[in-house]
Amino acid sequence: MDSFIKAPETEVLFAKNYDDLSFHIGKYGTNVLWVVDETTAKMVRPLPEPNVILPVGEKNKVWDSVSIILKEASRNKLGRDTRFIGFGGGVICDLTAFAASIFMRGCTLTLIPTTLLAMVDASLGGKTGIDFCNTKNLVGTFYPADEVLICPETLGSLPPRELKNGLAEVIKHSLLSKNDALYILLVQNKNQILAKNPEIIKKLILLSLQIKSDFILQDPLETKGIRTGLNLGHTFAHALESHSRMMTWSHGESVAWGVCRALEAGVKLGITDKPFADGAAKLFLFYDYDIGFRLNRGEWLDFKDQLLSDKKKVNGQLRFVLLKSQGDFVSMPLDLNMVRDLVIKQPLA
Ligand SMILES: NC(=O)c1ccc[n+]([C@@H]2O[C@H](COP(=O)([O-])OP(=O)(O)OC[C@H]3O[C@@H](n4cnc5c(N)ncnc54)[C@H](O)[C@@H]3O)[C@@H](O)[C@H]2O)c1
Repeated sequence: MDSFIKAPETEVLFAKNYDDLSFHIGKYGTNVLWVVDETTAKMVRPLPEPNVILPVGEKNKVWDSVSIILKEASRNKLGRDTRFIGFGGGVICDLTAFAASIFMRGCTLTLIPTTLLAMVDASLGGKTGIDFCNTKNLVGTFYPADEVLICPETLGSLPPRELKNGLAEVIKHSLLSKNDALYILLVQNKNQILAKNPEIIKKLILLSLQIKSDFILQDPLETKGIRTGLNLGHTFAHALESHSRMMTWSHGESVAWGVCRALEAGVKLGITDKPFADGAAKLFLFYDYDIGFRLNRGEWLDFKDQLLSDKKKVNGQLRFVLLKSQGDFVSMPLDLNMVRDLVIKQPLA
């Protein structure tokens, strides 16, 4: 294990390979509860007992899955000193962390993210949660993992669309940092990144996590308006994901689209530096995201409903994160007529 990142209460460690990961996990002893999904279960052979194997996908990020984890912990008479280990993508990380935060008022937690999205985003920062009453992440806690173990080798089996899902958050992080290192890495190493070159992927994850952890260190519980910056593009993105009923647009694809709408809004208002916005859009295009997509006029009302049900309102008012330039954001309300013009197809002149 090497390189670690500072984040409140969490130690982030990188495993050189599966053997290194197994050796580290072996040190925990037997007082552990494993949580995996049906895909990641096949990556831990043999899967130690006790364990919970959940079905795959966001539709399972619900209370029933938490209840299964808690019942398994109770059935095995586990105690507060038990270590919950979540091994999987963001869904497993969020579920395991939420269950660990409430079982006996809090157990030890190790997250082993196995998707790029979970490595660069979901495993760090302490947000846990489940979808409830058809609303994404409506119920949850702040409960940072004691340890996040990242083994880039686990990405070997990750399908390209899932890689792209995480890359959108990486690109977003690069735009939120005043330091150019991640942006340059993305521009100069597309083929190695898409081919999951271990050295380059490790660098990409490290730089991305460093940027996220800088925000978290300054505002661990999202109360100071700093961590809000990480929501860049997300108000647009969540509305698009919900509008597509989580079917056609993945989270990452929606984030890429949403960041570009936020950049356009900023340019329209004279807040965002145009050459910077053009460069950022080019980077998303370079990685083949559909940032030019627009809704049909008839879809606006549903999209607007989804926008207005966004959880992250301040005094009942919807706010959007805009970038002035690289690493310099503001959060502000936007006129809904302007938002409509940004997201729907415009009639030909
Ligand atoms: N807590 C946070 O701060 C935070 C931040 C961002 C996202 N999230 C949450 O993360 C979730 C999305 O995470 P995700 O995109 O990882 O989805 P996911 O967990 O559903 O994983 C995507 C798919 O990849 C499979 N998979 C996982 N690892 C694999 C591997 N190594 N090889 C092959 N297949 C693998 C999974 O079984 C699943 O089918 C959402 O619920 C989102 O809300 C949380």
